[in-house]
Amino acid sequence: KNIKKFNENLLAWYDENKKPLPWRETTNAYNIWISEIMSQQTQVETVMPYYERFMKKYPDVATLAVANDAELLKLWEGLGYYSRARNLKLAAQQIMTEFEGIFPSVLTDILSLKGVGPYTAAAIASISFGLAEPAIDGNLMRVTSRLFELTNDISKSGSRKIFDQHLRKLISADRPGDFNQALMDLGSKVCTPKIAKCEVCPIRVYCEAYAHGTPLNFPVKTKK
Ligand code: ADE
Repeated sequence: KNIKKFNENLLAWYDENKKPLPWRETTNAYNIWISEIMSQQTQVETVMPYYERFMKKYPDVATLAVANDAELLKLWEGLGYYSRARNLKLAAQQIMTEFEGIFPSVLTDILSLKGVGPYTAAAIASISFGLAEPAIDGNLMRVTSRLFELTNDISKSGSRKIFDQHLRKLISADRPGDFNQALMDLGSKVCTPKIAKCEVCPIRVYCEAYAHGTPLNFPVKTKK
C-alpha cells in the first residue's frame, strides 16, 4: 500500500547490509552482464575470483568477441555449464556486428543476445540502464510469494507473469537496480528457504505471510 515507504525501508536496509561484490562498484553493462551470467547456477561468493580474472583478460566486448576459445574455456574451468562461456563470446560478436560494438540499452535488444534470458536482461536493464524491470530469479520469487502470499507454483513457467505483475507495482523508479539487488540479498540473507528471519526483515510490516505467520508455506513448488 505505501509503496514509497516500502522502498525507503528496503533500500535503507540495502545501503547498510548489501554484499560487497566487485560488480557493484560499476554499472557498466558489459561488467554487469558477465557477472550475471557467471552467477547463474553458481554462488556469488564463488563467482568473485572468476569475475576478476575475466575482467583482466577480457575487459570489454571487443576483446571478448575475438577471444581464443581454449583460453576462454580454461578461464571458465570450475564454473561449469560451459555453454554459458560459448554464448558469451557469440553474444559479444553479435554486439560488434548488430550494435556497432555498443552494449544495447533497449530491453528487447538485450533479450536478443545469445544466452540472455528474461532474468539476465532485466538485471542488466535495471542495474546498468535504470529501467524499472523486475529481475525475477528464485530469491525474488520466494520473497514475492511471501510478501503477497502467492500460491502460484514457482516451477510452472506461467507463474513468472504473476510475480512480474506484483513486482512492477513495487519497483523503485529511482533505483530499480538496487531494488532488484536488495531483494536478491534479502532472499539470500534474511528471507531464506528453511528459516525466515522475519525479526530482522526491513519489509516485514508489508508482508502478508509475516502477518499470518505463514512464511514457510511459501513459495509453493510441485516439481523438485
Ligand atoms: N545473484 C545474481 N546476481 C546477483 C546480484 N547482482 N546481486 C546479488 N546476488 C546476485
